[in-house]
Amino acid sequence: MQFTSLQQDSEIYAALQAETSRQREGIELIPSENYTSAAVLEAAGSILTNKYSEGYPGKRYYGGQVNVDAIENIAIERAKKLFSAEHVNVQPYSGSPANAAVYFALLNYGDTIMGLKLDHGGHITHGLPISFSGRSYKVVPYTCKPDGWLDMDEVERLAQEHKPKLIVAGFTAYPRAIDWQRFRAIADSVNAVAFADISHTAGLIAGKQLENPTPYFDVVMTTTHKTMRGPRGAIIMCKEKYAAAIDKAVFPGLQGGPHDHIIAGKAVCFAEALQPDFQNYARQIILNAKALADALKSHGFKLVTDGTDTHLILIDLTNKNITGKQAQTALDAVGITANKNTIPHEPRSPMDPSGLRLGTPAATTRGMKEAAMQKIAAWINDALASKDDAAKLQAIKEEVKSFCLQFPLPGVH
Ligand SMILES: Cc1ncc(COP(=O)(O)O)c(C=O)c1O
Repeated sequence: MQFTSLQQDSEIYAALQAETSRQREGIELIPSENYTSAAVLEAAGSILTNKYSEGYPGKRYYGGQVNVDAIENIAIERAKKLFSAEHVNVQPYSGSPANAAVYFALLNYGDTIMGLKLDHGGHITHGLPISFSGRSYKVVPYTCKPDGWLDMDEVERLAQEHKPKLIVAGFTAYPRAIDWQRFRAIADSVNAVAFADISHTAGLIAGKQLENPTPYFDVVMTTTHKTMRGPRGAIIMCKEKYAAAIDKAVFPGLQGGPHDHIIAGKAVCFAEALQPDFQNYARQIILNAKALADALKSHGFKLVTDGTDTHLILIDLTNKNITGKQAQTALDAVGITANKNTIPHEPRSPMDPSGLRLGTPAATTRGMKEAAMQKIAAWINDALASKDDAAKLQAIKEEVKSFCLQFPLPGVH
């Protein structure tokens, strides 16, 4: 990218140039990252950042809203179409504040909620004791079985015992498709709100590769980055009966002025996801994840649940004589970016856990296919086996770089 005007700020300019090279010369395997299109980048970097527009289209607290009203309405209509939603709020700043808004709208402090335990693959905002969610509500966490699969019988048993007011389904580090129908049935059996957080898989749902919970869940939240490939942000979708409460919780409950430039970027990404080609993209993400999983297994890696249905793979490194932190560091040294992660029933600590989390959305956007996944698995295997051999790591880095340069960096002219 040229960053022409930014050259006047030499420090930020230099850092952005270096980050562009890092993104261009390395393989991005963090499952929550992606490369947005040039159109999304333009919208997100546009003059809409200058505008204040507290309120909602047609009901604002400031003047000069004619264009931002149009943009917000377009974003809403596109999201409704994409997910078959009754009501959509496109203003949440990001996934965590959006989850806060859902709870704020539908719960009282001290109410009981259920979510997947963080070290089993849940998100911080699903009830971690040190997060606002764990401090504000009584949390009954559910877990995965020793084989890594969700324990749906436990979800049912805990729901019957604790009668939660809301059950969150949808996760941060779970490689398998979710049985939405069973979650819905369990929530119904105890009169709980069924809340889906599809932040990780929204692009796969929009691309029609995974089942969409929106038509029959009460509330659905998704980030618009990750597999959705849009700007950093979130939306909340819900049944009409919750619409007023959700809107009030987002503004004025928790937020002030919406980020209109990001809302424009969301509208652009929804239009992109409505194109038939986005379904090919979503299909390829999963094909790539399955190819990467199989190739890793052929190198002796153990995978949580032994594979994936999604964009995400969780490696259990306990048989490899390396920790998640050491693995992440070795991969950083060769230009492959991934993240250390806990595995269900983690024997180590969250800061140096036994797992490594990988995902294929960004590499797939870049145009990499199954053959590339074979190469990536071999580099991962070699890098981890050579973690203390700086010369070998450097040699792998050169190979990774020359491979990556064959795939242009999306969004960068
Ligand atoms: C399932 C899930 N929900 C919510 C979030 C929070 O999103 P954000 O990082 O935009 O606050 C994440 C992000 O990692 C997530 O994985």
